[in-house]
Amino acid sequence: MGDLPGLPKGTSLHSYERLDSTNSEALRLIASGDASEGLVVVAERQTAGRGRRDGVWESPAGNLYLSIVTKVPDQLIAGQLAYVASLSVYDAVFKHTGTNAALSCKWPNDLLLNGNKLSGILIEALNEFSVVGIGVNLSNTPSAVADKAISLADVDLSVDRSDMVSDLIHSFDHWKKSWRKNGFSVIRDRWMSVAHGIGDPIIARFPDGNEEQGVFQGIDGAGALVLERVDGSVRMIAAAEIFFSD
Ligand code: BTN
Repeated sequence: MGDLPGLPKGTSLHSYERLDSTNSEALRLIASGDASEGLVVVAERQTAGRGRRDGVWESPAGNLYLSIVTKVPDQLIAGQLAYVASLSVYDAVFKHTGTNAALSCKWPNDLLLNGNKLSGILIEALNEFSVVGIGVNLSNTPSAVADKAISLADVDLSVDRSDMVSDLIHSFDHWKKSWRKNGFSVIRDRWMSVAHGIGDPIIARFPDGNEEQGVFQGIDGAGALVLERVDGSVRMIAAAEIFFSD
């Protein structure tokens, strides 16, 4: 625990062998007034790992479970943090895969390896803080996920967990600073260059259950998904589940 040499200034790493959920622990620390920017919670395994849309995130020992506490400055749009987090995970993983495997970011913030889900991100907010929860399948491939999962071990990569923790903290620090200094345009351009399925047909399912079909044209300057309808009109989507036809 505490500041670690080699990690960005202000990083405070809390490591556990077991937790219910690193996000839940980070939220508890925020609620009790014990959190500040740069707090990172890591666990070797989680007993109640949480995914997006109230899903369960299988969390056996061997994979990576980490939550970073940060603040979104007032002038920035909180939803853009999803892309900052995605690029951080992309870079940290790319450092190990190089170009030997196809990595891509699937909207809103999954990381795909050879088309299968390698990593998921759950962002939650409390008070003035946001918690960026990241799960990466290092050696264990979850079976019970709707999206087909993959681990780095499946492509014969053995990555040390603490190396990946350090890589993630560094890459998040890099993209967070870029966002704060330059705004969203650099993040958007980079995300678009590594995005999965731009130009492909998708179905968007909205929180109210309605669906709309169209072509995925990427994200706009604010971070909304751009869906092009058959008649050429476009719809900007802030929140939905999207399905590619592949
Ligand atoms: C998803 O559904 O794709 C998001 C999964 C996020 C899982 C990570 S693991 C670390 C952090 N703690 C949690 O309970 N969830 C996130």
